[in-house]
Amino acid sequence: MNGQPLLEIADLRVTYWGRSLLGFKGRPFHAVNGANLTIRAGETLGLVGESGSGKSSIANTVLGLVPASAGSIRFGDVDLAAMNTRYPPAVRNQIQAVFQDPYSSLNPSMTVEDIVTEPLRVHTGMSRAERRARAVELLKLVSLSEEHLGRHPHQFSGGQRQRIAIASALALQPKLIVLDEPVSALDVSTQNQIINLLYERRDALGIAYLLIAHDLALVHHISDRIAVMYLGHIVEEGPSDRVYHAPAHPYTKALLDAVPLLDPEAQRRRRAARKAAPALDAQRVAAEGCPYRNRCPYVMPRCATEMPPAYPIAGGGTANCFLYAEGDARAESAATVAGAAP
Ligand SMILES: Nc1ncnc2c1ncn2[C@@H]1O[C@H](COP(=O)(O)OP(=O)(O)O)[C@@H](O)[C@H]1O
Ligand SMILES: [Mg+2]
Repeated sequence: MNGQPLLEIADLRVTYWGRSLLGFKGRPFHAVNGANLTIRAGETLGLVGESGSGKSSIANTVLGLVPASAGSIRFGDVDLAAMNTRYPPAVRNQIQAVFQDPYSSLNPSMTVEDIVTEPLRVHTGMSRAERRARAVELLKLVSLSEEHLGRHPHQFSGGQRQRIAIASALALQPKLIVLDEPVSALDVSTQNQIINLLYERRDALGIAYLLIAHDLALVHHISDRIAVMYLGHIVEEGPSDRVYHAPAHPYTKALLDAVPLLDPEAQRRRRAARKAAPALDAQRVAAEGCPYRNRCPYVMPRCATEMPPAYPIAGGGTANCFLYAEGDARAESAATVAGAAP
């Protein structure tokens, strides 16, 4: 890890436009509302938040699959956002992706050899024999072997397919791999194996990860930093251990409390509380203050009218919450509640 910023996302906005029946531009949907994130070379940033918060929109924008509506994505010395999804090959090679669903992301008619060597065939002048030798090396990196080269994706388990997808992502020795919920479709023990594999490869090869997950507990030990998203906004960011052990934003605390409760009565009370405070309509949020205000136990009047800026948090990072505005005594009690969690 050399501390250089590799990827710097500044005030990124991603807006989807609905279409009317006649094909005119319809109403805008703001999926990402001004996100700021930095990943240093060789570092892992965990991006967590519930479904629909805008995580994949950020991932797809970095990958050039979806255009940025505003803001910048500095990668080395280029601005990816300004390229409007048309990345030159030299840039595209350096950013690889692994997606959630290992059943649909691998072409079923291709052999493992074809899948793993495809990036080499497209982007390098390697001969077939050279590519095959490299494929064997890559399979070893993900604990598969030469005997798997001739098989097809359907002959593998979900975890093995994710290993194949990771091998393919490693082929061009990228600087950054964007992993969008890479283990969400796998069972718990396989999830841990894949996370451990990613961890080992990252340290051996010096690759940076943007690692998206909805489970903070699962990614916290592999992540150097964690960013938490809610309804299109980054609400908290900081060193992984600080965010996990002493979450500052009320939403991050709720996310860490979201593990299933064994007591059915407690479970019922939680469900009733959530029903009583439905999530805000994402579209009203930007104009009207904190996106989390109607679920927040610490809500105050200004939360409805002002968007909280990023306040520094003891132990590192920031939280976009007025509890941490200088001089708010409640920050202390909120922090104590957070610190009490195991
Ligand atoms: N292509 C699209 N067109 C319109 N709305 C979209 C599109 N992709 C995502 N959205 C909406 O944007 C929001 C964020 O989605 P997404 O980035 O996939 O979130 P996440 O990955 O956190 O689940 C969701 O409300 C989703 O329905
Ligand atoms: Mg997603």
